[in-house]
Amino acid sequence: MTSNPRVVFAKRPGDALPVVGEHIILDTSRTIDLDKVPLNGGFLTKTLILSPEPAIRERMRDPSITSYSTTYTVGAPIVAFAVVLVLRSEKEGINVGDYMYGQTIWEAYTVQPYIEGRINYKPEDWAPDTFDMDSLALRTVPNPNGLYPLSRYTSLLGTPGLTAFVGFEGIVEGKEGQTIFVSSGGSGVGAMVVQLSKLKGMKVIASVGSDAKAEYVRRLGADVVFNYKKQSYESALAQHGPINVYWDNVGGESLDAALEALVPLGRAVICGVVSSDNVPPAERYRLKNSHLIMKKRLTLRGFIVPDLIPQFIGKFMTEVPALMATGKLKSEEAITQGFENAPQAIVNMLSSGHNAVGKPVVVVAE
Ligand SMILES: NC(=O)c1ccc[n+]([C@@H]2O[C@H](COP(=O)([O-])OP(=O)(O)OC[C@H]3O[C@@H](n4cnc5c(N)ncnc54)[C@H](OP(=O)(O)O)[C@@H]3O)[C@@H](O)[C@H]2O)c1
Repeated sequence: MTSNPRVVFAKRPGDALPVVGEHIILDTSRTIDLDKVPLNGGFLTKTLILSPEPAIRERMRDPSITSYSTTYTVGAPIVAFAVVLVLRSEKEGINVGDYMYGQTIWEAYTVQPYIEGRINYKPEDWAPDTFDMDSLALRTVPNPNGLYPLSRYTSLLGTPGLTAFVGFEGIVEGKEGQTIFVSSGGSGVGAMVVQLSKLKGMKVIASVGSDAKAEYVRRLGADVVFNYKKQSYESALAQHGPINVYWDNVGGESLDAALEALVPLGRAVICGVVSSDNVPPAERYRLKNSHLIMKKRLTLRGFIVPDLIPQFIGKFMTEVPALMATGKLKSEEAITQGFENAPQAIVNMLSSGHNAVGKPVVVVAE
């Protein structure tokens, strides 16, 4: 028998940052017989890489709070993005040695599919109105021995890259010579938006939470990078703006400053609100500049990635690997080693200041 640890969602954290051992626990009580566990027509996978992502936090909310995703069940394992390797298979089209990526149970070994019919799904079948993140399930990695490491399937080719690409293609309408401000420019999504904007010939201003991240985002090509813990959003944008487009990963104070810095008829793409994710409603930042939306005739558009996938998935699958192969799109990953460190990696990903440079990943096995 082989140990089969898993990450369990133990308690809802309310508005606070989740705590390891209280809200997220490592359950090491289970074992699995890798040779004999019944597959029931499915297949057995070994987890290689876990991808801590902000959507995990959203799914920890109380089910009474409406949002863009379904919620986790208390006592059940975390389901989130990962890269896995097929060890045994009874399923046609899935072969031993295949690499797959997508949503799966966060445990060392899993008998798949945990949702029937969701293997190698067609992205165009996604239905944004009834978006259930579990339904994303797994797809086969198209090019495992290709030009890039498997961890790229959690960054440029995973959720962050896809989010940035579809939002950029569908909403930004960037033009050469225009200026874009990207908050959390060092996040997985932000790093991709910075690079896509540079490829369009735009001037890029980015905010980050540490000097090491500032260096990283400069390496990606941003023209101006500031550390929002040392210089306020307002003063940085007054110094380096105005801006034509704002890509918002943060919300709150950064959005307020962007409203001030946007030109008349400018656009804000609202992708994330990480600054309020672990803050009680009464303590959340209140906008002071909302009147400017009308006065400057600004357009603010929120989106979630499935809204735009049917339209842009084909372009993403064709263009992004090609841009990676020619070195025009790059990414770095902040690696945490070991399945046992996965719960803490979730918390670190949610806490500004705890993150190393790059997209957070947990390497479970080589
Ligand atoms: N709309 C969608 O469909 C969709 C899909 C995926 C992700 N998203 C959103 O996109 C954003 C980036 O996601 P990701 O997966 O790329 O994230 P990530 O790589 O895990 O990075 C998140 C970053 O947020 C920053 N952060 C944390 N607390 C902050 C605060 N109070 N103020 C400012 N920055 C803070 C931290 O950077 P610093 O150290 O620089 O502060 C952290 O590294 C998130 O808001 C996420 O919710 C949206």
